[in-house]
Amino acid sequence: MALAVMCSGGDAPGMNAAVKKFVDYTQKRGERPFLIYDGLEGLIDGRIKEAEFADVAGILHRGGSIIRSSRSKRFYEAKYRKMAHDNLKRYGIDGLVVLGGDGSFRAMERFWEEYDINFVGIPTTIDNDIYGTEYCLGVDTALNTIREALDKIYDTASTFNRAFVVEVMGRDCGYLAAISAISSGAEICIIPEVDFNRAVVEKRLRYELENGRRYILAIVAEGTGMTQEIARWLSDDMGMDTRITILGHIQRGGIPSSFDRMMGFEFAIQAVEHLLGSKNSNKVVVWNEGSFGLLDIETVVNNKNRVNPYHLSMLNVLD
Ligand code: F6P
Repeated sequence: MALAVMCSGGDAPGMNAAVKKFVDYTQKRGERPFLIYDGLEGLIDGRIKEAEFADVAGILHRGGSIIRSSRSKRFYEAKYRKMAHDNLKRYGIDGLVVLGGDGSFRAMERFWEEYDINFVGIPTTIDNDIYGTEYCLGVDTALNTIREALDKIYDTASTFNRAFVVEVMGRDCGYLAAISAISSGAEICIIPEVDFNRAVVEKRLRYELENGRRYILAIVAEGTGMTQEIARWLSDDMGMDTRITILGHIQRGGIPSSFDRMMGFEFAIQAVEHLLGSKNSNKVVVWNEGSFGLLDIETVVNNKNRVNPYHLSMLNVLD
């Protein structure tokens, strides 16, 4: 069989580990691995190559993706999906592994409905917002990047008696913000999943400030759009000398953690094994309670992921 791998949407640390294992493992199983460069854009334009050892040598420690990625607008148009399908046929590709997030899986569901493709997805996004899996590739590294930044901000915040509002990524999901707030001991956490009870939080903070608190760390999920509002409140109403830090895309890059490398390997093995035994798969590899499984793509894209209520219950900075 000829199997191909591509990355689609936002990059995440661990993609290279998955790509490398995909190539090595496919060859080990006696099959032919192909690389699709530049995600769906590259699939449309036929930037496809049979993988050789040298293509994936020395890449494990690198963030991003050596086969690059894209957010393709053209793939929404039928004529470009046809070009993509023609390219799969031209290279004789019998199975496709896609590392991506929700948007990429939606695109693949459409593609699968139109053409008889054999596809499996690997949930890959630092947002950890894909339904049906507890873990998406890249999350551990992103959380550690955020933790490192917060530890440093804490140093300067506590030295200057300041409030810091730190915006972390997460388009529609507060997972990164919630876990970072819990593990960094932040005083405030604003996420899309929970209404912010300003009066209650203000009462608690005023009490703490009157009783010796000297700094405030507020974590705001990007998706709430509330960064400026929280900073104004802390500055104007709470009287704190306040600074804003937007962590931005540094959260997406960086050397993948050991966990993300191992997860990249495991996700890739699961994906290859599944494709070798199927003809028109439309599944996503998922990871729950320490085990891998498979879910239909329609289940994954038609359900909304929720932050684990247990984690929310640990977030005592919501009130
Ligand atoms: O990949 C997920 C993510 O990093 C989100 O957290 C963020 O909202 C978005 O991608 C940013 O996308 P872009 O890199 O296209 O600006």
